[in-house]
Amino acid sequence: MVAVARRVEDLTRLADELASAGGIIIPKPGDVTDRAAMQALVDEVEAELGPIALAFLNVGTFFPDSDDDLGGDGFRKTFAVNVDGTVNLIGPLVRKMKARGRGQIAVNSSVAGYGGLPRSIAYSSSKAALITMCESLKFDLDRLGITIQIVCPGFVKTPLTDKNDFPMPFLISVEEAGRRILRGFEHGGFEIAFPKRMAWMLKAINMLPYSAYFWLVGKTTGR
Ligand SMILES: NC(=O)c1ccc[n+]([C@@H]2O[C@H](COP(=O)([O-])OP(=O)(O)OC[C@H]3O[C@@H](n4cnc5c(N)ncnc54)[C@H](OP(=O)(O)O)[C@@H]3O)[C@@H](O)[C@H]2O)c1
Repeated sequence: MVAVARRVEDLTRLADELASAGGIIIPKPGDVTDRAAMQALVDEVEAELGPIALAFLNVGTFFPDSDDDLGGDGFRKTFAVNVDGTVNLIGPLVRKMKARGRGQIAVNSSVAGYGGLPRSIAYSSSKAALITMCESLKFDLDRLGITIQIVCPGFVKTPLTDKNDFPMPFLISVEEAGRRILRGFEHGGFEIAFPKRMAWMLKAINMLPYSAYFWLVGKTTGR
């Protein structure tokens, strides 16, 4: 298995942890916002290790924003990492998998992509873009024998959420999230959403008329 991130020390620690449990992770440092580097990385991994059977595009960044930042550095970075970074890998992966007529790609979005949430202007909209992109892609990839999946987690305890200063209902551990994602890979369905009560609650809220949606979300988040 190959893992990609920017910080070499974190990748090395991950590889060491897995090695002590009998597994293998090959660290490949890289920045997903570098389009040429991601194309080269896919080529390099396939040349060294053979065809990529499954790619989990997990990268994402979040900061609680407001209208003050609209179009600012934080907003642009969120889109550069969450959307462009994901696309920079999907393109080369699809080209390789298309030639073989098989493969599996999973993109990590969020339940925050189901609808706009307060202090999540860049994040919610970037994650909505990923959901819609994968829905659109599915029509093409199904015909090519490539499985495309969207992962929509609720709150998971990670360094990303450790920074949050607001209540996070139904927060789950990273181990539990990992188990749910792996089960979803095996099952192969389009959406891997968890915890179910969080995902279904947000899906239901997003089916309400906008007046009810804004009232309910505003009331429950104190906005
Ligand atoms: N935690 C949650 O509650 C939650 C809920 C729903 C969805 N998600 C999604 O799950 C995914 C993972 O989130 P997380 O909570 O694990 O976040 P995290 O703790 O901040 O980890 C983000 C990971 O992405 C890597 N990364 C960031 N920018 C990168 C870049 N430009 N190029 C390559 N790698 C980069 C980071 O490593 P480096 O910094 O070393 O590059 C790190 O390994 C994200 O897509 C997030 O939106 C999380």
